[in-house]
Amino acid sequence: MYKDLQKLKHPFFVLAPMDDVTDTVFRRIVSSCAAPDMFFTEFVNADGLQSPGRPKLLKKLRFTADEAPLIVQIWGKEPDNFYKTARQIADGSFAKELGLPDGVNFSGVDLNMGCPQKSEVKNGTCSALMNDRPLATQIIQATREGLAAKLPLSVKTRIGFNSEDLTWSEFLLSQDIAMLTIHGRTKAQMSKVPADWEAIGRVRELRDRVSPETLIVGNGDVRNYRHGLELAKTYKLDGIMIGRGIFQDPFAFSAHSPWTSFTANKKIELYKKHVETFMKTWEKGERPVHTLNKFCKIYINDFDGAKELRVTLMNSPTADALLAGLIRSDM
Ligand SMILES: Cc1cc2nc3c(=O)[nH]c(=O)nc-3n(C[C@H](O)[C@H](O)[C@H](O)COP(=O)(O)O)c2cc1C
Repeated sequence: MYKDLQKLKHPFFVLAPMDDVTDTVFRRIVSSCAAPDMFFTEFVNADGLQSPGRPKLLKKLRFTADEAPLIVQIWGKEPDNFYKTARQIADGSFAKELGLPDGVNFSGVDLNMGCPQKSEVKNGTCSALMNDRPLATQIIQATREGLAAKLPLSVKTRIGFNSEDLTWSEFLLSQDIAMLTIHGRTKAQMSKVPADWEAIGRVRELRDRVSPETLIVGNGDVRNYRHGLELAKTYKLDGIMIGRGIFQDPFAFSAHSPWTSFTANKKIELYKKHVETFMKTWEKGERPVHTLNKFCKIYINDFDGAKELRVTLMNSPTADALLAGLIRSDM
């Protein structure tokens, strides 16, 4: 089951899961600029997927073959829902429900054990699992059972809850997981301090002793491919995950990004492609137009008149109006 992951180049690069950001549309835009070696879905609630609310959550699982390999990230509370969700992912029933052709499926399942948001922590999920290892064990076991060795199991977490806690990393590494992504901050630090790569390095050292087969992916404040390459070398990591770096450079996964020399026209063209892909994908209004606003500054930035243009575009009442605004400003 580890075979496919072990085949990845070293270090391999991953686009981080970012809720309401890295959906199928944005993943395709990133893929068209400079594709990472692996993608993650946004985190999806396993309890919700096994409830009458399932149809509404399916938008988070939409994907195309351009976004491969794609790992589904799930979170939740009830081990039985992890079991059912993992089984439906591994046996291809989710892919079928999403209308994907035969033979196209997700490439793995990742468990979110790092999200620090108040609501998730209060509910005893995500990073709260650091303090509830019996439940974390049950969730891992249930997911593994559901996967039935058809797809690899991985975990994404942080270096600790209130402070660095190597017992948590050791606990995870002793669960026979294929891959462990470590975001170099504690839950308490949220995103307020720089990521601690020395701490990520200590998890990699622990991995060498406890579970040499588990791949270690480092995450936190990586700007681009070259920066990631340096960090992977310094801390001897298998993979590097980039999240917010993609907002500064859609070509962040390229060894030779052309982004700083992109003209205003080329930036507008790329945003147009994003909006057109959005319109084709969310035909039934699954994602409202204002959800595009968080992307506007990626493209409409760093040229004369960019600020004024952003204000106009971000007030577009419909995706058609947004597209028309972009076409008008294409110089
Ligand atoms: C808007 C946003 C949404 C996020 N959603 C998720 C998520 O769904 N699952 C997850 O594991 N991490 C999520 N994260 C955390 C990122 O995956 C990543 O760990 C974090 O941003 C640090 O990496 P970076 O400095 O490269 O951005 C999110 C981060 C942001 C900024």
